[in-house]
Amino acid sequence: MMLSILVSSLLASPAAAQQIGTFTPEVHPPITYQTCTRYSGCTTQQGSITLDANYRYLHTASGQTCNPAGFNKTICPDADTCAETCALDGADYAGTYGVTTNGSALSLVFGNGGARVYLLDDTDNYVNFHVMNHEFTFDVDVSNVPCAYNGALYFSEMPPDGGLSATNAAGAAYGTGYCDSQCPTGINFVNGTTNVDGTLGSCCNEMDLWEANSLSTQLTPHPCNVTGEFICTGAECGDLCDPAGCEFNPFRMGNESFYGPGADDIVDTTKVMTVVTQFLTDNSGTLSSIKRFYVQDGKVIPNSMVTLAGLPEVNSITSDYCTAKMAVLDDSTAFNVHGGLEQMGQSLSRGAVLVISLWDDLSGGMTWLDGLAGDASQPGTLRGPCTAANVTSDQAASVTFSNIRVGEINSTFSQVHFGQCGGQFYEGPNLCAEPFECVFSNPYYSQCL
Ligand SMILES: *[C@@H]1O[C@H](CO)[C@@H](O)[C@H](O)[C@H]1NC(C)=O
Ligand SMILES: *[C@@H]1O[C@H](CO)[C@@H](O)[C@H](O)[C@H]1NC(C)=O
Ligand SMILES: *[C@@H]1O[C@H](CO)[C@@H](O)[C@H](O)[C@H]1NC(C)=O
Ligand SMILES: *[C@@H]1O[C@H](CO)[C@@H](O)[C@H](O)[C@H]1NC(C)=O
Ligand SMILES: *[C@@H]1O[C@H](CO)[C@@H](O)[C@H](O)[C@H]1NC(C)=O
Ligand SMILES: *[C@@H]1O[C@H](CO)[C@@H](O)[C@H](O)[C@H]1NC(C)=O
Ligand SMILES: *[C@@H]1O[C@H](CO)[C@@H](O)[C@H](O)[C@H]1NC(C)=O
Repeated sequence: MMLSILVSSLLASPAAAQQIGTFTPEVHPPITYQTCTRYSGCTTQQGSITLDANYRYLHTASGQTCNPAGFNKTICPDADTCAETCALDGADYAGTYGVTTNGSALSLVFGNGGARVYLLDDTDNYVNFHVMNHEFTFDVDVSNVPCAYNGALYFSEMPPDGGLSATNAAGAAYGTGYCDSQCPTGINFVNGTTNVDGTLGSCCNEMDLWEANSLSTQLTPHPCNVTGEFICTGAECGDLCDPAGCEFNPFRMGNESFYGPGADDIVDTTKVMTVVTQFLTDNSGTLSSIKRFYVQDGKVIPNSMVTLAGLPEVNSITSDYCTAKMAVLDDSTAFNVHGGLEQMGQSLSRGAVLVISLWDDLSGGMTWLDGLAGDASQPGTLRGPCTAANVTSDQAASVTFSNIRVGEINSTFSQVHFGQCGGQFYEGPNLCAEPFECVFSNPYYSQCL
């Protein structure tokens, strides 16, 4: 029955591409998230999760896999034939991909090569977040993410409809339209065309709020000088974006005891934490600073500080931070070449799609995040405590993100009873958890009472 529907739909539209298969019904796991304002608090929104198209079963009418290890050239001798023959199917989220939700929580359990998912709204489009002059907050449990694994949460300037078109019947509901600042060439379908030989890359601006395991974490804007998704070919794919980005990794920036599983770490990765990221703008609306706070055990923890030659102490990503870091650590200048923070901000102004993934790199370790990346004698090459001895394939990994919320600056997190909520040089939240109020003591101190 299922088969005959698929066969007839394939035959009915021979020119169609990126079709939908019907072996497994696509049931998006539901998830809630919140939008917040300072004066009205937070409102719960109902969304759902969809699995990226590349992770899905792509098959012929008879159920043969079109891409067992790269495309099968007998089934897919060229893009048109492949698109006419192959369909993207629904996903068994929990069983095959280890993806489950519960209320506001999303858990990814590593198995079968991890997963990459997106947040959908109630019209089956990707939620298009606008975070300029706003903050984005989530809780995360990284305690079970070991060396060489990465539980990531980031923004990509993907098409909100996933590129739904005459040649793409699947769209956002089936997780199409992925792009990022690496301009990946391994995407099976690019704008409705089957990327049989991997000649097409899919580039877009990317803002990594969270790339982390229990040992290291990194916050990274990756600007590209393109608007929306841009499909590249050949050498051009290496020229449009900043794949390394201007990252802030507390370990790399010299504070090896700020984030980690040790009792002496300031942010303790054995426990759930809240991660706040603020996108501050200047008077002209240009992105001027990306600021990070953690909240754990009711305590607001500002990001670690770094002193870079010629700069006052800084704990947020600013243009000065990026330029100084490039000079001091001899990092690539691609960030500034591609428009830097200003370009990142222009992209975020247009809107961003939320991507959450769990992946690993067991070949050489994920050293750019958590180990030694480069010549040990050079400053800044140590990104975390992981070594080759810590990279093993037999580790179960899982990550849980929950309570995703977005809103005005200072609207998504609050201070606890007796916590500081204002005063000169104070930078944390100025809202107090109910039923407390922020009470002025003196110009240097206000307190939640
Ligand atoms: C590719 O498809 C052909 C035709 O269906 C099949 O005979 C062959 O075994 C497939 N190759 C692989 C590697 O799956
Ligand atoms: C879902 O979350 C609720 C509230 O946190 C909890 O009581 C319940 O056990 C969870 N359900 C599952 C299946 O994990
Ligand atoms: C995708 O293809 C459509 C035409 O089918 C075109 O209008 C659109 O610009 C293309 N998108 C990208 C990102 O190239
Ligand atoms: C993007 O930047 C590269 C430099 O890496 C430059 O060669 C290219 O012309 C720029 N493209 C656009 C559209 O500005
Ligand atoms: C690491 O950060 C914490 C919290 O900001 C600070 O108290 C500590 O002195 C820093 N340690 C180093 C070595 O910079
Ligand atoms: C990495 O391996 C070394 C040597 O076995 C061990 O001492 C260390 O605790 C491991 N670190 C992590 C983060 O697993
Ligand atoms: C957020 O709170 C901090 C600290 O109280 C304050 O300095 C800042 O101006 C507030 N920002 C906004 C937009 O309210």
